[in-house]
Amino acid sequence: MNDSAFHYVDGALHVEGVPAASLAEQFGTPLYVYSRDALTRAYRAYADACAGRKATVHVAVKANSNLAVLNVFERLGAGFDIVSSGELARVLAAGGKASNTVFSGVGKSAAEMREALEAGVKCFNVESIPELHALNEVAKSLGKKAPVSLRVNPDVGAKTHPYISTGLKSNKFGVAFGDARATYREARDMANLDVVGIDCHIGSQITEVSPYLDAVDKLLDLVEQIESDGMSIRHVDVGGGLGITYDDETPPDIGDFVRTLLAHFEERGHGQREVYFEPGRSLVGNAGVLLTRVEYLKPGEEKNFAIVDAAMNDLARPAMYEAFHRIVPVIERKASARLYDVVGPVCESGDWLGRDRELAVEQGDLLAILSAGAYGFVMSSNYNTRARAAEIMVDGERARVVREREEVKQLFAGESILPD
Ligand code: LLP
Repeated sequence: MNDSAFHYVDGALHVEGVPAASLAEQFGTPLYVYSRDALTRAYRAYADACAGRKATVHVAVKANSNLAVLNVFERLGAGFDIVSSGELARVLAAGGKASNTVFSGVGKSAAEMREALEAGVKCFNVESIPELHALNEVAKSLGKKAPVSLRVNPDVGAKTHPYISTGLKSNKFGVAFGDARATYREARDMANLDVVGIDCHIGSQITEVSPYLDAVDKLLDLVEQIESDGMSIRHVDVGGGLGITYDDETPPDIGDFVRTLLAHFEERGHGQREVYFEPGRSLVGNAGVLLTRVEYLKPGEEKNFAIVDAAMNDLARPAMYEAFHRIVPVIERKASARLYDVVGPVCESGDWLGRDRELAVEQGDLLAILSAGAYGFVMSSNYNTRARAAEIMVDGERARVVREREEVKQLFAGESILPD
């Protein structure tokens, strides 16, 4: 098991002090279950490694935006990284502060910029010249100066899935490295912008430190040029992207990762520069599981299928990226295991959660899909008019509903039929 918050006691999976089976009985399935302890320990691993340095953790809200999850981080002193005004609203509703929030994203609308400026976000991570102009205009109309950092594309390969690699020239993200210095000069000359930092985000589920060191090297070269052009770069945002163990990946430990990066800033003579981190997956990924019940077992000539009540609409990652999530029984059985494809009820062949998994299961059994805390619920949809799962937070011996299960009537509440 990836994390000791999720462990077996006498063959029964527990989340902290609570048997997973009792959660499924009480709250139904499919069910997302998070561990407060696992969230806390992951955050502390970042914060402890940052202690004594000018380094700040901004939780990437997109990975898991449940208010209770955000609030756990807020209480631990986190900042936030958002990509929409919707995420800003969530941060504020969870007790977070705009002044600790950075606004990333490639396509912020003028309305979103206005909301964020009025709320007082700490920095806009801007990705293009037209966006600089738009932000300058919005700031002018409000009589404000917008704090900006440019997201620079350092053109380093993150060695990850092409859909979640973002730091290459071929990606839509960021200002091209070769254009960055000139773009900074443009920003400097806009009256309602205040250049405060530099930013990059090279990808996600990255399991090595070397691409980050390469990106930092390129960014620091640029910082030196930008400062010689009369701007002062107060912070360097290295983005998120640190990977987790889904299967047999061996990403660096969070503390080692942070210390290696901060040491690299020192080696480069930039030890005093403030460093921002924007982690998502490494904070929440292994702090959540998705519980599901086996509806039917369907033996086949080529494949055996375990048809479960969770589907691609609940957890899209396998269908979207062929992502691997471990699947384990909630109550271990002594019976001999068979190979199953674990699939959902949605009418698509792409609706699978795990392939060729060795499982000893019977109809009605519960399974836990592991490492589902990041990009799980947040990417869920109502495809096939399936109501979205409930979310539970376990804290020691207690379990609380932190998002109620959707009801079908909510799904079409905003729809109407033609009058004639
Ligand atoms: N900062 C920015 C600007 C980002 O775009 C992202 C993620 C993060 C931080 C957080 O990255 P993390 O630490 O979570 O890797 N849906 C995909 C992942 C998409 C990541 C998008 N950007 C998946 O399920 O694997």
